Amino acid sequence: MQKVLVAGLLLLVGLVGILAWYYFDMNQEDDQIRIGVTIYQMEDPFIAQIPLYIEKIAKEHEKADGVRIYVDTVDATGNQNLQNDQVVQFLERDFDVLCVNMVDRTAAGSIIDKAKQANVPVVFFNREPVAEDMQRWDKLYYVCSLASESGVLEGNIVVDAYRAQPERWDKNGDGKLQYVLLEGEQGHQDSLIRTEVTIKTITDAGIPLEKLDGDTADWQRAQVGVMMAQWLETYGDEIELIISNNDNMALGAIDTYQEAGITELPMIVGIDAIAPALDAVEAGTLTGTVLNDAKGQAQAIFDLAYGLAQGQDPVEQHEILENRYVWIPHQPVTKENVKEIRKFLQ
Ligand code: GAL
Ligand code: CA
Repeated sequence: MQKVLVAGLLLLVGLVGILAWYYFDMNQEDDQIRIGVTIYQMEDPFIAQIPLYIEKIAKEHEKADGVRIYVDTVDATGNQNLQNDQVVQFLERDFDVLCVNMVDRTAAGSIIDKAKQANVPVVFFNREPVAEDMQRWDKLYYVCSLASESGVLEGNIVVDAYRAQPERWDKNGDGKLQYVLLEGEQGHQDSLIRTEVTIKTITDAGIPLEKLDGDTADWQRAQVGVMMAQWLETYGDEIELIISNNDNMALGAIDTYQEAGITELPMIVGIDAIAPALDAVEAGTLTGTVLNDAKGQAQAIFDLAYGLAQGQDPVEQHEILENRYVWIPHQPVTKENVKEIRKFLQ
């Protein structure tokens, strides 16, 4: 009997808690700014930085301006249907603005239609909706960094490193760099363009390349293992250069060499400048990377969202806005400037 009473009491306390939560959620103060953020996959170490920066910037703003800002970040775990539901929930809960990192960048249409119906602006970032979708409404924005720019900078790192020590990298002395390629997700705007531009930059500088092999590892460090081990077995020392579409996969390649006990690594380059990659640059295992400025992107996303939530027209507020697109510049990262980059990201 006593047990039943205790259980009943606990149930009641739980119910009251849920009701209270709903009550407060529905009766949020009118002056509170509500920003809903949905991330394609929080397991991705580059993208995971962005909501952290947004929340930090929001807190600083709250302090400085005395406004109340509520940022709610949810993880779509690589599931587009789940992300669509998350958007519906944000709209039902009266969020003022949405920041969306699409799971499937070609599937933005239904999210846009729902947001438009509720008159809630959307700031997309990092995974670019197709142009026709961006045209569906004038309260849609996109924040990212230009893939081609990151390719030029990644290519230039290879060119500079090669010119400084040609004998070190061109191990077989044939005047060419034999390379393997680690590609990001197929269909992602960054994968194809980075690959193309990085390679063109190197060959345009007069350094001939010879591709030994290449494949996609979907941006993921763990997915590199099996494929890199296979290439190492097949080509061994013939691999003089590893071009990776991002740092995470470049780190996966370094893992493979280290597991094989090989200390003399080929030239390896990545893009993003995530923390473990900066460590690898300092350690000399990663020749260089390119800062994909998560902090700058978060600032632009926040500024747009904050203004939009207050009904401002960002076109008048933001000099950096190019026809509803914002492009945040990259920076090359090598041993020479890695310390400055760390400071920049703080
Ligand atoms: C790219 C980044 C990758 C991955 C991807 C996710 O810009 O370089 O590492 O995070 O975005 O969309
Ligand atoms: Ca060679």
